[in-house]
Amino acid sequence: MNLPKVFITRPLPPSVIERIATRCDVKVHCEDAPLEPARLVEACREIEGLMTSGARVSQELLEHAPRLRVIANVGVGYDNIDVGACTRRGILVTNTPDVLTETTADLAFALLMAVARRLVEGDCFVREGLWHYWQWGYFWGADLYRKTLGVYGLGRIGKAVARRARGFSMRVLYFDIVRPSPALEQELGAQFVDRETLLRDADFLTLHVPLTPETYHLISARELAMLKPSAFVINTARGQVVDEPALVEALRSKQIAGAGLDVFEQEPHIHPALLGLPNVVVTPHVGSATSQTRLAMAMLAAENLLAGLEGRCPPNPVNPEVCT
Ligand code: DGY
Repeated sequence: MNLPKVFITRPLPPSVIERIATRCDVKVHCEDAPLEPARLVEACREIEGLMTSGARVSQELLEHAPRLRVIANVGVGYDNIDVGACTRRGILVTNTPDVLTETTADLAFALLMAVARRLVEGDCFVREGLWHYWQWGYFWGADLYRKTLGVYGLGRIGKAVARRARGFSMRVLYFDIVRPSPALEQELGAQFVDRETLLRDADFLTLHVPLTPETYHLISARELAMLKPSAFVINTARGQVVDEPALVEALRSKQIAGAGLDVFEQEPHIHPALLGLPNVVVTPHVGSATSQTRLAMAMLAAENLLAGLEGRCPPNPVNPEVCT
């Protein structure tokens, strides 16, 4: 029997690869690093299924993959994939929402706390042997307690961050183009405000929007100028949502107080000035990086892939119109 050929672009957990291998002819790129575009093209020539985490899937790549039917993205964001081109070709695209929500919300909150309480600066100070005696006046940070959290984008992760804020007695404001039910707003203790009020009132602005043409540079010089000088920006969404040079300028000129960033405009390149600023905490795009969550993401992507290849509607289609 001819099993569908599948290519996996990262060394995913063995249990996940074994599950796929029961029903597919699987090849895995065993190095945990991005494939060069030419090698990805080569790997896609014969395949029907592609499982990837962040590889760029362009119209051009699709032209070299005439048999491709399913792309299972291991991640919730799928801005790396030209979904329009896939849909036109009848290629199903899937992602992995839900399983990473709480883990990513934890990281957003960790960044928020780390930058507000200057955890990284304090850690470096101790490690560098600079701590000689207790001082009244060092490493004063900002309180979270009773401060205002501005959630930009009240999707799954935005809601999970809002829930955490309640434990810190924070006031939660949000802006989104879609408004949830009043019951949910009440449960979250979150108040809808317009975009401008969100920016002006937030002590901590946390971003939870997908990257789309509409959200590109959603936070640029104009928006940063509306924030309080004591405000912090937290980004665990996508780097391109923030105009990074404008953010650097706002931080340098103390127009805002600090930033906690897990994502960057040109990953893995980071604006060099960001790394020189003590009021910035950076992490290398690890929002969903816990062993439990990464396994759950890979397993969910495998279920999506197998369902798509077997002609069943998968749990998480991005372009469900292709299923019907
Ligand atoms: C996601 O799931 O979108 C993460 O950012 C990994 O790309």
